[in-house]
Amino acid sequence: MCGIVGYIGDKKASSILIDGLNKLEYRGYDSAGIALCHQDQVEVCKQVGKLNNLEELVDEKKPQGRMGIGHTRWATHGKPSTPNSHPHTGCEDEFVVVHNGIIENYLSLKEELLSQGHNFSSETDTEALAHLLEENYEGDLEKTVRRVTAKLEGSYAFVVMTVNEPDKLIAVRKDSPLIIGIGDGEYFVASDIPAILSHTDEVYILDDGEMGVVTKDGVDLSTIDGEPINKDIFTVDWDPGMAEKAGYDHFMIKEIHEQPESLRRAISGRLSIDNQQVILEELDLSPEELKGYERIYIVACGTAYHSGLVAKYLIEDLVKISVEVDIASEFRYRDPLVSEDTLVIVVSQSGETADTLAAVREAQDKGARVLAISNVVGSTIPREADDVIYIHAGPEIAVASTKAYINMLMVFYLLSIHLAQIKESISQEKATDLIASLKNIPNQVAQIIKDSEKVFEEFASEYAKHENAFFIGRGLDYAVALEGALKLKEISYLHAESYPAGELKHGTLALIEDNVPVVALATQKSVLDKTLSNIQEVQARGASVTGVVLNKKEEVVDALDHVIEIPETEEVLTSILTVVPLQLLAYYVAVEKGCDVDQPRNLAKSVTVE
Ligand code: M6R
Repeated sequence: MCGIVGYIGDKKASSILIDGLNKLEYRGYDSAGIALCHQDQVEVCKQVGKLNNLEELVDEKKPQGRMGIGHTRWATHGKPSTPNSHPHTGCEDEFVVVHNGIIENYLSLKEELLSQGHNFSSETDTEALAHLLEENYEGDLEKTVRRVTAKLEGSYAFVVMTVNEPDKLIAVRKDSPLIIGIGDGEYFVASDIPAILSHTDEVYILDDGEMGVVTKDGVDLSTIDGEPINKDIFTVDWDPGMAEKAGYDHFMIKEIHEQPESLRRAISGRLSIDNQQVILEELDLSPEELKGYERIYIVACGTAYHSGLVAKYLIEDLVKISVEVDIASEFRYRDPLVSEDTLVIVVSQSGETADTLAAVREAQDKGARVLAISNVVGSTIPREADDVIYIHAGPEIAVASTKAYINMLMVFYLLSIHLAQIKESISQEKATDLIASLKNIPNQVAQIIKDSEKVFEEFASEYAKHENAFFIGRGLDYAVALEGALKLKEISYLHAESYPAGELKHGTLALIEDNVPVVALATQKSVLDKTLSNIQEVQARGASVTGVVLNKKEEVVDALDHVIEIPETEEVLTSILTVVPLQLLAYYVAVEKGCDVDQPRNLAKSVTVE
């Protein structure tokens, strides 16, 4: 959840580190710090709170040096405080460490170190690592890191440096991502690509159990046991501008506006010109193998899980096979019924979510083949899965996922049509209609943003006054309603519940009173009348209803306080359109309430701990 950045080269390290931390703040942000090595001395600057607190301190102290490490923290062991923030040192400021993950045996290590006379100044697990380096150092940092790493249990990515060898950074990875960026006479270390993207697009992606010794002259890669490694350089195809706000007030609204473009990237090269078929070249599974699966399991967390719920409707509708959708933290601990006959699809924007990664391993242990749907190329989940389809959303910085969700849906649409064609569960004519409609989706999303943004800007204040909101819908609309409620909760702190429209009367209707805001999604024609009755039920109890509808049917419009119309498309494709107004609603309510939109309280972008 935390972010790491490191630099070695000829430039002033402090500004490069602060710039990198700015790009990483979405990973975790209760405190931050940097340490620079300069003329046999280490200077550490750290501050609790937002990154600008650290920036002020750095402006004041002006730490010097052309090599350094930095960290943004999201507290796990020890409360957010300046002493608990990284970088950590041993008793003297000789060995400095930044670390992501958890050192599970830190208490026993700490006990031993205390008995050896070490004094601790924080409550963190990481500090034990700095003291261990200090205790075990015999004049060779690389050897010391290998020896010390052998004593660690848990998951970690860390970078260390010492004043005794002020020409190198050592980066180690186990179960937490770490990359080394290759510049011209300069090198970078980072937990995530955006931190270094403005400096280089060439990186080494470390695998578990690997380490890199990074100097100004190059990188030596090896296993922690000392076996040298040859690794290909990976070229990142993200544009550095994608990780900047580009004039928008927040990353979230920028990312909402990027959706038409990111959808175009998701379908680029994947739909035949004649609209006859979906082309998923990266999928290693042959049509015969795909045909063999009688059951699909989709496993994910949060918004990615919600994309799986939409996929259940699609796949069951188009492919006619049974789909189970599970939350990764539940799946991993409940002995799920998967085997060689099950295709397990895991979905993760970051590719690093700890529970989803554990689900990959659990499914593979049970003999299932795992297909990952992910955004971050080279991240752990796609690397461990058997197959991967990338969603190509580009870097998503806002904690609240928008363009990644919509691209996940697009990939599920592509996959469902592909499977349906293989299984011959839909006619060629139907496939062609769906493909033609899919090609139109990016323009339709652009249209919805244009048409509805102003509307939401204006009536967000009505929602902001309330403490509760409800989202209702049937079928696919219900799956999208869940995502709408999550968006509102996570960034505007407004309590939002999502219900299948027909379920309200079994209890929740008791919560509906005068002016309570209800968002009703009503796009599914086969159940439109039923949904309309449910809208009337809540209206009769005083609710103020905003409807997201497929076309402005009079009887629907009459019943609603606000209407958002989405353009005509195949009924099964509506979810990719209906979610857009819900994202805008959440955004403008959060802005109206003065919330920290991109970095909501208590949350981090990638959840790499359980
Ligand atoms: O990186 P992942 O897709 O695995 O992340 C899963 C969830 O943590 C994530 O979708 C979370 O729910 C978002 N904050 C939602 O906006």
